[in-house]
Amino acid sequence: MKKNKQALLNTIHSLICDYCDKHFDFSFHPEQPLIKLHEPTINGEEVFAAVQTMLSTFTTMGKKVRAFEAQYAHYTNILYSVMSNSGSSANLLAIAALTNPVTPHHLTPGDEVIVPALSWSTTIWPIIQHQLIPVMVDCHLHDLNLDLNKLEAALSPKTRAIIVVHVYGNPCNMDAIMAFAKKHDLFVIEDSCEAMGATYNEKSVGGFGDIGNFSFFFSHHISTMEGGISVTNNFNLTETMRILRAHGWSREADEHQKYINLYPDIDPRFIFINVGYNLRPTEVNAAMGQLQLPKLDSFIVKRREAATFFLNHLSQYDEFFQCQQETPKGKHVWFGFPVILKDKAPFSVKDITSYLQKKGIETRPIIAGNMARHPAFKLYQHRVVGDLSQADIVMRKGFAFPCHHAIDQGARKYIADTFDSFIEGWMNKDKMTG
Ligand SMILES: Cc1ncc(COP(=O)(O)O)c(C=O)c1O
Repeated sequence: MKKNKQALLNTIHSLICDYCDKHFDFSFHPEQPLIKLHEPTINGEEVFAAVQTMLSTFTTMGKKVRAFEAQYAHYTNILYSVMSNSGSSANLLAIAALTNPVTPHHLTPGDEVIVPALSWSTTIWPIIQHQLIPVMVDCHLHDLNLDLNKLEAALSPKTRAIIVVHVYGNPCNMDAIMAFAKKHDLFVIEDSCEAMGATYNEKSVGGFGDIGNFSFFFSHHISTMEGGISVTNNFNLTETMRILRAHGWSREADEHQKYINLYPDIDPRFIFINVGYNLRPTEVNAAMGQLQLPKLDSFIVKRREAATFFLNHLSQYDEFFQCQQETPKGKHVWFGFPVILKDKAPFSVKDITSYLQKKGIETRPIIAGNMARHPAFKLYQHRVVGDLSQADIVMRKGFAFPCHHAIDQGARKYIADTFDSFIEGWMNKDKMTG
């Protein structure tokens, strides 16, 4: 009977791998050019791992999640990690832990949290959802990260924390951020959802501040379908995030036994020691993550090769395009390739992105531009530092095109040629009208 089960699994494995080998084709085909912003990072092994986990019937958070957390902590060289069901949930857990009464000097309602205006929605929503006040600071156009010169102006007596975003995978200057945070006694969260594998000073992003968060959504450097992870070197924050992640019960805490001893009259499976959510990932996500993580470095090599090629190619159009510059001491992992149109560009973002799209090259805004300009902010208290003019430029004059592990030489050349033909078209148009 047992042998039969293994034989069936072997057959399923070979069928899935066979299917994926034949039908997972994410390479570039010049006769039918289509270059998507993102391509799957998985193959038959990940699909089989997911199916095998389903077949085991042990699908809800358990040993595989724990094992993947240890694997991720090892990869980043950060002591602890807590997996959740998305990068947004990881951001939520981080703020929930830092506001929780069990955390020494925890954040309290009305406290201010500095955030970059160029960030993602769920970088900021947990701040608002915990009755804290986001204070939005402008970015710098050369690296797209928080403008360090504007941080002092963001301070008030209520400032208690700063969230940084390593925009598009480009690490922030963490020496400067940590010095600022230390000087003003601030908690630091690194929203590293776009920066898996990025380093600053040879050290993984996410490990500088109190908590760092990553995303395993489909479009990211590696994927578990949906998924996220929070990393920290602080054991107490780890325990708090484990408890908040699942209902507020003590079951997932390393120190579960301590609570059993403290509350012998309560069923040990249901001791609620805090508030909580249900932000758990599944064993299926973790099984995929276990196979994806060893591939991360090779994907990053490909992203960096493609980015170097684009940087070189676009340098000839320096008067039109501003490309993102890698932070000194940082290793950029290129979530995509962001470009800002300079004032001298005779064309608009719409002109160039429509052309690229027409030629089969997908584009998108850089994150979502200046978050302060989104309608949701009309509903909630927040503070804006200065005029956020640079984040406005990113929103009005920026776009990103694909720069991922599946961009091969053919795709790179096609993108470069398409930029050339667009510029040539505009030059000729200019000549004819001028
Ligand atoms: C900076 C940033 N933070 C958070 C997230 C949210 O991650 P998820 O989609 O896994 O919820 C994203 C998503 O791309 C992001 O770019």
